[in-house]
Amino acid sequence: MTNNHSLTHTAAIIGGGVIGGGWAARFLLHGWRVRVFDPHPDAAARIAAVLANARASLPALSDYPMPDEGELIFADSIADAVGEANWIQESVSEELALKHRVIAEIQAHAPKETLIGSSTSGYKPSELQEGATDPGRILVAHPFNPVYLLPLAEIVCGDAVSVENRDRACDILKSIGMKPLLVRKEIDAHIADRFLEAVWREALWLVNDDIATTAEIDDAIRYGFGLRWAQMGLFETYRLAGGEEGMAHFIAQFGPCLAWPWTKLMDVPELTDELVQKIADQSDAQSGERSIRELERIRDDNLVGILRALKDRDWGAGAVLNAHDRRLAPDQAADMPGTIDTAAPMRVLDLSVLPAWIDYNGHMTEFRYVQVFSDTCDRILLMIGMDSDYVAAGHSYYTAETHTMQVDEIGSNEKIYSTAQVLLSDEKRLHIFYRLHASDDDRLLATTEAMYLHVNRESGRVCPASPAIVANANRIAAAHAGLPVPDTAGRYVGQRK
Ligand SMILES: NC(=O)c1ccc[n+]([C@@H]2O[C@H](COP(=O)([O-])OP(=O)(O)OC[C@H]3O[C@@H](n4cnc5c(N)ncnc54)[C@H](O)[C@@H]3O)[C@@H](O)[C@H]2O)c1
Repeated sequence: MTNNHSLTHTAAIIGGGVIGGGWAARFLLHGWRVRVFDPHPDAAARIAAVLANARASLPALSDYPMPDEGELIFADSIADAVGEANWIQESVSEELALKHRVIAEIQAHAPKETLIGSSTSGYKPSELQEGATDPGRILVAHPFNPVYLLPLAEIVCGDAVSVENRDRACDILKSIGMKPLLVRKEIDAHIADRFLEAVWREALWLVNDDIATTAEIDDAIRYGFGLRWAQMGLFETYRLAGGEEGMAHFIAQFGPCLAWPWTKLMDVPELTDELVQKIADQSDAQSGERSIRELERIRDDNLVGILRALKDRDWGAGAVLNAHDRRLAPDQAADMPGTIDTAAPMRVLDLSVLPAWIDYNGHMTEFRYVQVFSDTCDRILLMIGMDSDYVAAGHSYYTAETHTMQVDEIGSNEKIYSTAQVLLSDEKRLHIFYRLHASDDDRLLATTEAMYLHVNRESGRVCPASPAIVANANRIAAAHAGLPVPDTAGRYVGQRK
């Protein structure tokens, strides 16, 4: 399924709480029409709040404009919600009898071929499928909060679901930027929540026994192993802990500790009123100064930053985002165009200025200019042939010099586009003049002039680029040769009239 089809697609979200709201936002921002059914009187307000968070964060993960937002419709009944659905996501409260009732009603009214993903954190697909009219269309698609940012969805099918339906589910979830992880055998709580449950039990004991406060436990995670887990997980991290001798050595070294009483695992402290109050008091002391909405925004901004860092390294969750970007990219965006416009600079990126890009003055903050022009440069380099294979083989362009001029204010949510004018291209150098414009009236917003040098990455020395890259760059430079040289090109700081 490509991005282009999304406008014609409808997702039905049954249950619009924290998780259903997150699914609704992810589908909507990928251009799907979304029909939500949730009888709760506050459902619309809750979804509006989740959607506001998603709009402020999800588009920041992509280097391409997202499709136009789909239409959000609140349905009066399950029948009304699912009638034309291409995907149905059940996200009602975690209670098996309720899920059975809801799934039965969905299957009575949904198109015969439409798959139903359940967000259940704990139930196995065979439990959800019990007594269903068509068990082969019911599977677990277990997401993580916030659903609109975190790519993982655990897919658990059980024996009733065909490989074809399983693959179809994975394709749909990939089309909205997710990473479907197939769980081979059904098991209570799937994979991820089994870890979280173990860690949670341990944390409850540490508070119960006055070993640590809630804040200290969070510090133990976020200043240390949490950072390792976010980018390598458990086994790859421990492989490194084993050093050159590897995993077997690591297990031999630390294996005996497993027999020591380091963990209470299956024991759970009794959740007495006192313990619950103690945890709540400590949590208030830790985080009570900030509202839940503030904390959500902080979490989302942090996640965007972490995910973007992983994206730059094409690693883990960042590699999923890059794969999704390739889906969002206009066709052939990175190839050399057949003909190059000689009458105007080359339009390269179309972007939206995200709320998170705005500083205390209410304008796009400084480093975002660098980001936008740097992304524009990367696109040009990809176009002329500097792909990841070329870089891996030992050559790249390095930035030698840049000069940015802020021309007009850039506000939140503005649609902008960047252009590039190649002023000079030879075997070793690329000299490019970039402009940033407002999409609605072509107003000039900023310029950056940059010089790039082609470098042998091992020696760090400047050297000629490959003949193919030089030929492509020269073609653009030749096409731009007739354009007037920008009157601010070559300016130094403070020279502005
Ligand atoms: N909260 C999490 O972090 C998380 C993460 C992953 C999966 N899940 C799973 O997602 C599901 C929903 O969890 P949540 O945290 O969003 O709960 P929630 O309580 O925030 O939302 C559940 C929603 O279901 C609605 N609902 C109840 N009966 C309904 C019905 N008959 N028809 C339509 N809507 C109905 C409720 O009004 C409520 O808005 C659960 O299965 C849970 O295990 C939760």
